[in-house]
Amino acid sequence: MMIAQLLPNSSIWMLALTSVALRAQGARQPDYLDETKSTDERVADLLPRLTVEEKVAMVHAKSSFAVEGVPRLGIPELWMDDGPMGVREEVGQHTGGGFDSLNREDDFATAMPATIGLAATFNTDLAGAYGSAIGQEAKQRHKNIMLGPSLNIQRTPLCGRNFEYLGEDPFLTSRIAVHYILGEQAQGVASCAKHLAANNQEEQRDSISVEMDVRTLREIYLFSFRACVQEAGVLTVMGAYNRFRGQHCCENDFLLNKVLKDQWGFKGLVMSDWGGVHNTELAALNGMDLEMGTLPPYSKNYLATPFLDGLQSGRFPMSALDEKVRRHLYVMVKLNMIHDPAATPAGSETNGVLSTQAHQDIARRVAEESIVLLKNEELLPLNPANLKTVAVIGANATAKFARGGGSANIKAPHEITALEGISNRIGGAVKIIYAPGYNPPAGRGRHDRGDTAPPAADADANLIADAVAAAKSADVVIYVGGLNHEGGYDTEGSDRPDLKLPGGQDDLLETIVKANPKTAVVLMGGGAVEMGSWLSRAPALLYAWYPGMEGGHALARVLFGDVNPSGKLPCTFPKRLADSPAHALNAYPGANGTVTYAEGLLVGYRWYDTKEIEPLFPFGYGLSYTRFKYSDLKLKPGRNPAAPGVTLEFKIANSGDREGAEAAQIYVQPLTPSVPRPLKELKAFAKVSLRPGRSRKVSVRLNRDAFAFYDADKKGWVAEKGDFNILVGSSSRDIALRATYRLPQTVFDPD
Ligand code: BGC
Repeated sequence: MMIAQLLPNSSIWMLALTSVALRAQGARQPDYLDETKSTDERVADLLPRLTVEEKVAMVHAKSSFAVEGVPRLGIPELWMDDGPMGVREEVGQHTGGGFDSLNREDDFATAMPATIGLAATFNTDLAGAYGSAIGQEAKQRHKNIMLGPSLNIQRTPLCGRNFEYLGEDPFLTSRIAVHYILGEQAQGVASCAKHLAANNQEEQRDSISVEMDVRTLREIYLFSFRACVQEAGVLTVMGAYNRFRGQHCCENDFLLNKVLKDQWGFKGLVMSDWGGVHNTELAALNGMDLEMGTLPPYSKNYLATPFLDGLQSGRFPMSALDEKVRRHLYVMVKLNMIHDPAATPAGSETNGVLSTQAHQDIARRVAEESIVLLKNEELLPLNPANLKTVAVIGANATAKFARGGGSANIKAPHEITALEGISNRIGGAVKIIYAPGYNPPAGRGRHDRGDTAPPAADADANLIADAVAAAKSADVVIYVGGLNHEGGYDTEGSDRPDLKLPGGQDDLLETIVKANPKTAVVLMGGGAVEMGSWLSRAPALLYAWYPGMEGGHALARVLFGDVNPSGKLPCTFPKRLADSPAHALNAYPGANGTVTYAEGLLVGYRWYDTKEIEPLFPFGYGLSYTRFKYSDLKLKPGRNPAAPGVTLEFKIANSGDREGAEAAQIYVQPLTPSVPRPLKELKAFAKVSLRPGRSRKVSVRLNRDAFAFYDADKKGWVAEKGDFNILVGSSSRDIALRATYRLPQTVFDPD
């Protein structure tokens, strides 16, 4: 029986207007609207319905962050936004110096801690929560694609965007990114893995050409992108600004066509970085699907009229256009964006939320777990009951960071500074004196567009005198300094001038720890800094990254022991810049437009370990207010010879007197490799929370890929028969347990 016969007359008329009724009465619904069809079937049905002009309009920007739709077919505009630490405010046109702010009041978002801090949590559940919160806020703001996470490996500690990357290790980067993307895309928003590939410095980022060997490319710089494609199903990827082997990454046949699409089977959309396309023919043919960011008039963009002309004259095959639009439609169908044009006003529905308490709680939890305790000689946690006066010293105690750093900036509903967090926690009962102590960096830094850095602010005698007086009058000093997003520090478009603490902070700290030896030093920033001789005198040191809108609360909870720190360094802190690989080899920032990654595979701890260079603080390092004991390592090799691998079991006990969490790290060390390999590599980690006196058995599986290296001749991954040490520890240099696993036979997996 037809549905219409069961309904009252008035309802029949209403329903008759909808596609539901049309379908019920046998009217033919196009396949592309049929949700029972596969994504590929729907796309195949929709694509031929578009005119060439409509299709070309879909492969380049129509405004700063949007792409044209085809309303007559129910294809809405595609909207995107930065990423990766929250949903950026609405912006207008780019005026050359930056985007126009629209000064709206409904576009604030939860400012999560910087993603480098997320990596420091070593907590994949938190990465999922972080991504999912951003996805929900993106949904509310009608964004279809969020431009993150940012996956570039930290090659040099100077890189201006290290704060928004995930550290120096490809495995850690891949785990955090995969969970972030799974969380975000579960909300019906596409993530964008960026920037493919080798965008490891901001210096000359638009033009520098990167050279490296094949293994380094696959094992270090492409590793996490592949995981995001194959494990997380990331729907979009952004090409990088720089060139790779002479060809711009956004027009790079090898990276985009050969590796990403052909080898890895990526079915989604590749977009350019903003203004990253330079040539119509190369963009048309080398795998770029969507040109973003070039300034108006957009009709003059490389993939706009010049592309249309080339298609119409037969210079480019129509298949090149169809390939791009197919990918665009694939993403839209996956996001459930395409609807019957007669039935649904495109883009009106949303089921997201703006910054909620729940999301701000996630921001606070991530900040708490990201803070790394680097040193503690019985000063922390502080007990407010024993304190009358606390001196808070340092410009970062009152600084806010969410609005800085370039495209990753966020307009937060509030941002709790360190001083506010400390005051909220102990103010009233304890007297708090504040002194800035130094002038923080200001202004813009060296920039690839030719700006020069303002000279680093000199030490200021008056500020120092005030700080010393404050330190002397207090029971303890909480120093909050480090970097900020100004003056060429931790900012997109420029690299740091050096690895020193700016503004004369080394000298200031020296003076302060002498004035009051009970000084807890808190540094904020995107990564390593060299530390002066004050470090041996200061009893406590915390690294807090850029801790997001709830950062001050998180920091106070760590300082006063409400939270036990459990962060671990996602990047090595060298004693001096010259110890770090790219700088030791004079292989940064390159010469004559090219940078050659001379250190090859030996990035981060792989370098320090293999070359036996003692770092200041190693990768994976981070203390706790309690103690953990590792024991009882057992290896249980798998029985299936075709799928070799091993399950490890070991025990962690909390032998101290506070609840705490430990990120146990598992490194693999090949003992009989047939090719040069780093001394050891991180291949698994597990974060375990334990009450005092408790212990837990941890079980971790290492599959064959944990043992594999990339074979350039065979074009794939070789897990080579032989012996491997399995090292379990609390940092890359604190190995508590070891055992040897014999991989019974060589296994090959094509890339
Ligand atoms: C950045 C990208 C960002 C884009 C849009 C570029 O300058 O490199 O990461 O997504 O701008 O703001």
